[in-house]
Amino acid sequence: MVNKLREWNWKKEHVSLVAGNHDAVKIIALAKKYGSDKTAVHDLSFSLRRGEILGLVGPNGAGKTTTLKCIIGLVRPTAGNIWVEGNPAGSREARAAIAYIPETPLLYDDLTVTEHLKFVAMAYRVPQKRAIQRIDQLLRDFELEEEKDETPLAFSRGMRRKLSVVCALVHDAPVLLVDEPFTGLDPHAVWTLKKWLRRARAEGRSVLLSTHMLGIAEELCDRFLILHQGRKIAEGTLAELRELPKLSGRTEASLEEVFISLTNPNPEFGESKME
Ligand SMILES: Nc1ncnc2c1ncn2[C@@H]1O[C@H](COP(=O)(O)OP(=O)(O)OP(=O)(O)O)[C@@H](O)[C@H]1O
Ligand SMILES: [Mg+2]
Repeated sequence: MVNKLREWNWKKEHVSLVAGNHDAVKIIALAKKYGSDKTAVHDLSFSLRRGEILGLVGPNGAGKTTTLKCIIGLVRPTAGNIWVEGNPAGSREARAAIAYIPETPLLYDDLTVTEHLKFVAMAYRVPQKRAIQRIDQLLRDFELEEEKDETPLAFSRGMRRKLSVVCALVHDAPVLLVDEPFTGLDPHAVWTLKKWLRRARAEGRSVLLSTHMLGIAEELCDRFLILHQGRKIAEGTLAELRELPKLSGRTEASLEEVFISLTNPNPEFGESKME
């Protein structure tokens, strides 16, 4: 009996370790090749912990969007394993656990703002009363009330982005994957989105935020993962990143300074930016 219990406990622990039950997202040795010669992501492993905002930063073409798309299941990895809340990426359970703000807003030109939000609420089975409350709150918070019956056909770039953002916030998915969500938003909307992301974290939900806006990332994120040419070159809190040898003891360095030092092949460039 005792042996059986031990065996069962070991199996449970082993399964949860393998399946990544301890993390919101667990990625092991992810690689993605487009065609035969373009390797966008190499041997990437990391975890998004429960209740954290993890900043995914890196120069253009570093592989951030590819990584997010692999987690969602929109892109099939060439190698590696990904679990979302313990479920294999791409499975129905994994998809249901994710709210996604894509790099390029995907909107329906025939649906009004409210119809977009109701459609997402229905797809994620948000109870009707809760959906109505949430939609009203989002329209108010993101100052979209006047446009609620309009279609996005004539929307500005920033308005399209706002609609894409609120669509992802209608439901309470435990994992938020957000790809450059601040681009084109006005300062009110930036402030509001930061508030909603912080609230998600306070509720124990997890956010993977890909962005070039390093000031906002520094303000919001608990930890950072720096990608360069498809490889992870650093991971940790800002304090931990400042300890890296390339930072030569610059204990006050901003995330921008850390980023420049780690990703620019010319060290003088980093130095001159920091004077
Ligand atoms: N569908 C595709 N077909 C071929 N190559 C692709 C495809 N999508 C991305 N790539 C290439 O993969 C690499 C990583 O692209 P990705 O979009 O993941 O980078 P990113 O870090 O999101 O960049 P950015 O900061 O510009 O958004 C780039 O070299 C890009 O050209
Ligand atoms: Mg991208």
